[in-house]
Amino acid sequence: MALLEVRDLVVRFRTHDGTIYAVNGITFNLEAGETLGLVGESGCGKSVTNLAIMRLLPKPAGRIERGSVTLDGVNLVALPEADVREMRGRDVAMIFQDPMTSLNPVLTIEEQMVETIVAHRAASRAEARKRAVELLGMVGIPHPETRLRSYPHQFSGGMRQRVMIAMALALEPKLLIADEPTTALDVTIQAQVLELLQDLTARLGTAVLLITHDLGVVAGMAERINVMYAGFIVETAPTPELFARPSHPYTVGLLHSIPRVDADEGGELVPIEGVPPDQRRAPVGCPFAPRCAWRVEACWTDNPPLVPLEPVSTVVATGPGATHQIACHNPPLPEEARTGRPTRPGFVAAPPPDAVFDELAVAAPDLEGTLVEFPTNDAREGRR
Ligand SMILES: Nc1ncnc2c1ncn2[C@@H]1O[C@H](COP(=O)(O)OP(=O)(O)OP(=O)(O)O)[C@@H](O)[C@H]1O
Ligand code: SF4
Ligand SMILES: [Mg+2]
Repeated sequence: MALLEVRDLVVRFRTHDGTIYAVNGITFNLEAGETLGLVGESGCGKSVTNLAIMRLLPKPAGRIERGSVTLDGVNLVALPEADVREMRGRDVAMIFQDPMTSLNPVLTIEEQMVETIVAHRAASRAEARKRAVELLGMVGIPHPETRLRSYPHQFSGGMRQRVMIAMALALEPKLLIADEPTTALDVTIQAQVLELLQDLTARLGTAVLLITHDLGVVAGMAERINVMYAGFIVETAPTPELFARPSHPYTVGLLHSIPRVDADEGGELVPIEGVPPDQRRAPVGCPFAPRCAWRVEACWTDNPPLVPLEPVSTVVATGPGATHQIACHNPPLPEEARTGRPTRPGFVAAPPPDAVFDELAVAAPDLEGTLVEFPTNDAREGRR
């Protein structure tokens, strides 16, 4: 049994504007001590997945509509609120992009850390204080004895994120969820904080769910990566395998849109054309179809399930030997993944069906990489 097992998780928001289909049936496992990256564009459902695991979805709009989240054999979806509070901090801790949202500005770091340790552990205040000093030292805060008496605003951004890491690890949680932990920091500090996070969690055997839109961040830290698009996991593989053999058109697009140190000289950066689908609509077909140069007819109507890229007798869900899986009707060939576009002679992406699709009003790339304007609904009406 894996430490964390997420099964067919569906999260929706009921708003005045209608239903938001935020997470649409995702399944993944995380082993004790493993680091898993969750990557994808803004709005693809990374933070909502995190909040659902932590049972922190904003109420009453956000709801887990289906599925289970099992931590150490306990289904968190069905757990009473009091037990969930106990679980947070003790078994699972979180680090956010902005530590000021998690640190209390009117209490010293000492008050906050000692309180947390005393509340969850059978420790005296003196023992808790000693542990807090140790932890601040571990995360590289100079003069931890003195700095313990500081308020959050007396630290720089990078130092505050270190304090957050110390607080998150204070109770030696089994799982740490880090949601864009370094996005607010400048690049040099980012690298230091990530290195520290990696070093400490490896030393303590903490499993990490690392959420980021930045493939560079997960490349350096995660052993395995789930690529998310529009509330679905569209590709999953051990990190070296994903970078060596990206196999879903969206992953291929992501890799072509970031600078890579292993790319050939002068490799051109190509943004993914178009925009993600409007999540106020129930998903129909593959959510990437309007932006995909590899699409075939079936993509407009059938959303492919996540299946092994190559036939295997048993699917391995975690670890460095995890099975590479993708959700795609027409995966790019290795050569196409390298060039970033379909190169099979005569292949033309399937045109949109005659139904009305607002999102197709955006420009999408054709085979040659030139832009084809899809007709807007008005233009279609006018033609009839
Ligand atoms: N409180 C909310 N009410 C309504 N919809 C929400 C709420 N929070 C998130 N959503 C919607 O759920 C979807 C997923 O959002 P989520 O915050 O998980 O994205 P994300 O992948 O974390 O993006 P980012 O990289 O910008 O942090 C989006 O369509 C978003 O608009
Ligand atoms: S080929 Fe089809 S299924 Fe695969 S990503 Fe493109 S649109 Fe989706
Ligand atoms: Mg987010």
